[in-house]
Amino acid sequence: MRRLRLSRDQVFTGPLLLVNRDHPLRHPSPAALAPVDSRHPDILLESRSTQMLSACIRQVGGGREIVPVSGWRSQAEQQRIWDDTLAAHGQDFTRRYVALPGCSEHQTGLAIDLGRAAAHIDFIRPAFPYDGLCGEFRRAAPRYGFIERYPRGKEAVTGISHEPWHFRYVGAPHAQLMAENGLCLEEYRAFLRRSPRSCRLENGRMAQVFYVPSAGAVTEVELPDGCCQVSGDNVDGFIVTAWGTCT
Ligand code: DAL
Ligand code: ZN
Repeated sequence: MRRLRLSRDQVFTGPLLLVNRDHPLRHPSPAALAPVDSRHPDILLESRSTQMLSACIRQVGGGREIVPVSGWRSQAEQQRIWDDTLAAHGQDFTRRYVALPGCSEHQTGLAIDLGRAAAHIDFIRPAFPYDGLCGEFRRAAPRYGFIERYPRGKEAVTGISHEPWHFRYVGAPHAQLMAENGLCLEEYRAFLRRSPRSCRLENGRMAQVFYVPSAGAVTEVELPDGCCQVSGDNVDGFIVTAWGTCT
């Protein structure tokens, strides 16, 4: 066991941040951004998310068919998208398909909109179907740490309409646990608060996941031996992921 001291500020950083209209982003710029691929140098994601997205697209042979449409957005860009959509489509549509500036997970660098290659791709609602290569990408995505963030049926929980094109990187044990249990990110946080969880990964290793509430200015956490990751939840605590041994 090792002891780690976490500052209150760390609640607001890490790959498991819950960002929605109730929980705005506190630190808008992720530490390191990288282009999703050489053909789209202007579309950036947090660097680990970039690697995992490329690996997933490669795995399904989707390099031509799957097109990145929108990745990291600054506050100014999210504001411009909000304003333009409001002017073009009105309040109801905008609230359903565009997060309030400051409350978009695109601002974390952990979210990517994907489209199927076509002569015209809608920027706000790109087509990304459930069959063909796009469907194969969806089925592989949890193993690479990505979830479909706004599923059908969870609109009342996420506050956003069904968005088949919007994927969010959370990391493999979390994406798999969410997929297996049919949970969106809001529900997953509550699920972890109820009890520690474990997940068998593709490589046969087990990952343990548990929640630690923030104790105020400093929170002391006991980490199991081996490789661990700590992420803030952007609300009031930390999510610890333990893999046992590092690779
Ligand atoms: N389309 C998603 C909700 C966003 O604007 O972040
Ligand atoms: Zn999106």
